Amino acid sequence: TWTTGNVIEEQVTAIREMVGDRRAICGLSGGVDSAVAAALVQKAIGKQLTCVYVDHGLMRKGETEQVEKDFVAATGVDLKVVDAEERFLNALAGVSDPEEKRKIIGREFIRVFEQAQAEIVAEAPGDQPVEFLVQGTLYPDVVESGGGTGTANIKSHHNVGGLPEDLEFKLIEPLRQLFKDEVRMVGQELGLPEEIVQRQPFPGPGLGIRIVGEVTKERLDLLREADAIAREELTAAGQDSQIWQCPVVLLADVRSVGVQGDGRTYGHPIVLRPVSSEDAMTADWSRLPYEVLERISTRITNEVRDVNRVVLDVTSKPPGTIEWE
Ligand code: XMP
Repeated sequence: TWTTGNVIEEQVTAIREMVGDRRAICGLSGGVDSAVAAALVQKAIGKQLTCVYVDHGLMRKGETEQVEKDFVAATGVDLKVVDAEERFLNALAGVSDPEEKRKIIGREFIRVFEQAQAEIVAEAPGDQPVEFLVQGTLYPDVVESGGGTGTANIKSHHNVGGLPEDLEFKLIEPLRQLFKDEVRMVGQELGLPEEIVQRQPFPGPGLGIRIVGEVTKERLDLLREADAIAREELTAAGQDSQIWQCPVVLLADVRSVGVQGDGRTYGHPIVLRPVSSEDAMTADWSRLPYEVLERISTRITNEVRDVNRVVLDVTSKPPGTIEWE
């Protein structure tokens, strides 16, 4: 019979057998899958696992801190945090094309990850080799990449910001047979905090693909503020469990005229994209209560400089995708 206890026990035994006394690394993205995979492997091999978190500067407000504090507190895992903001922003300078952004982010991610891996080896050269890479691949990911469902090529998605594909490692994929809700249950059983286990999906390239236009530090800061307000109000209104996720998008190359106090403004629009979905393959726009939308709109236009308009995306997927890029 399927119980989270059985799944954990089975995986722990299998991982111990596979790894022996060698070492493994795991990239953390801040998302549920990599967190649960890491916690599971850590339970199996303890200090033989090192986690790497690449802070590319495209994270939302509080996200890096959450990985640094909550995840480490819950698991006691060895964590290496790499501050790579400057590197990513330099690489993204002048780029507006969505696929180009994804490629750059993926490439930089691999470089930083390789560097971190070399450092881990250098810090403890006498130890057993780092031979294994932990990935939070889920069952739907396996099906999607192997099954040719026709959706895989819409965006060069998966694992960007999760984990590099062209590194030479043996893979540990303890979640390969699980669905998202099962992964959440396993995470809960492993003692991970609610904030991690119940997290909504967030794309690996982060806010980089939620700025329509060039990605700059200034624009990221602005979007981070707007996103934090939207998330805060959605949580306060008890909407988190009602929606799949709610991308908040900055139309950085668009300006519209507004009026505030007694002055004319010429600012950017923010798009709210709340969706309901089962698996992100299809989605419907969420019918959020008007009062919640109103509070988000009022707060964003009052509190975020240079934003004078908030619009709601009422497109289903298809024909829209969930993210704007
Ligand atoms: P779309 O926009 O294709 O998104 O309807 C479907 C789901 O995937 C997430 N997404 C990504 N996840 N790397 C990721 O790891 C990506 O490049 C990426 N693009 C979209 C999106 O947030 C949604 O949950």
